[in-house]
Amino acid sequence: MSSLFDFDHHPDQYAVIGNPISHSKSPKIHSLFAKQTKQKIEYQAIQVDPGGFEQAVGNFFANGGCGLNITVPFKRDAWNIADLRSKRAELAGAANTLLMNTDGEICAENTDGIGLVNDLSNNHHITIKNKRILLLGAGGAARGVLQPLLYHHPHQLLIVNRTADKAVELADIFSSFGPIEGCGYDAIDQQDFDIIINATSASLKGDLPPLPENVVGPKSICYDMMYSADDTSFVAWSKNKAQLSVDGLGMLVEQAAESFFIWRGVRPDTQSVIAEIRRELRSAS
Ligand code: ATR
Repeated sequence: MSSLFDFDHHPDQYAVIGNPISHSKSPKIHSLFAKQTKQKIEYQAIQVDPGGFEQAVGNFFANGGCGLNITVPFKRDAWNIADLRSKRAELAGAANTLLMNTDGEICAENTDGIGLVNDLSNNHHITIKNKRILLLGAGGAARGVLQPLLYHHPHQLLIVNRTADKAVELADIFSSFGPIEGCGYDAIDQQDFDIIINATSASLKGDLPPLPENVVGPKSICYDMMYSADDTSFVAWSKNKAQLSVDGLGMLVEQAAESFFIWRGVRPDTQSVIAEIRRELRSAS
């Protein structure tokens, strides 16, 4: 029954756009954030065909949508169509978060790098300062985390890639932000990196980057930016060699938390959400 004090408040609308999208954990993560912080929002997953991205974003905001997450394969398109980009998004060359400002401009952010850094530091208690970091891969996923990693002053950041030129090129682009170099796998002439981050897509196919065994020592931290219910191939390969070997589920939740904060101005607790999504992943496998 309605009363004088009932107002028809539709929840603010948010969504994630990607292709495929049915596997996405983002609707669940954001609904857990909303419940926890008592924010009235609705968050859906939208699958868009290649070529339909710009139209889909336009329709979403024209219909009053408040914010979007963007995932594979549209992060570069999101960056391209934005009217304004944050410094982080500009450097990442890709965007995973969009919102519309009061002037009707589409603003792009990239929260992937901060998601990685927050997962490492807050959830795994790993400091980046003065550490020797080896980053595997030189695609979009790697590029998105370079500036946030360098911001925390590692001793060294070495990008290694199958196609060595791409690693060298990426290191050149970011050289003004800190001590960064790039090379191929056969040119790694160092042992025992403190932190080894897998930003390749190798785990998607159950493959391993061609990494020399001796880069992982008993004190190394191995981090796969991919996640899965069971160990990813990189986690399985490194877990008996390293001090700690973890997947990127925490990064997924942390990047979502940063988007949620940008949209809602409220910072959700992430650890309970990581635990819940992990439980859900395991029970579904
Ligand atoms: P993304 O945007 O997700 O990073 P991408 O731009 O296609 O995707 O890049 C994928 C990265 O994973 C690249 O660095 C790729 O190496 P190449 O540039 O040499 O192709 C890397 N990659 C994919 N499969 C790999 C494998 N089996 N071993 C090593 N590196 C791999």
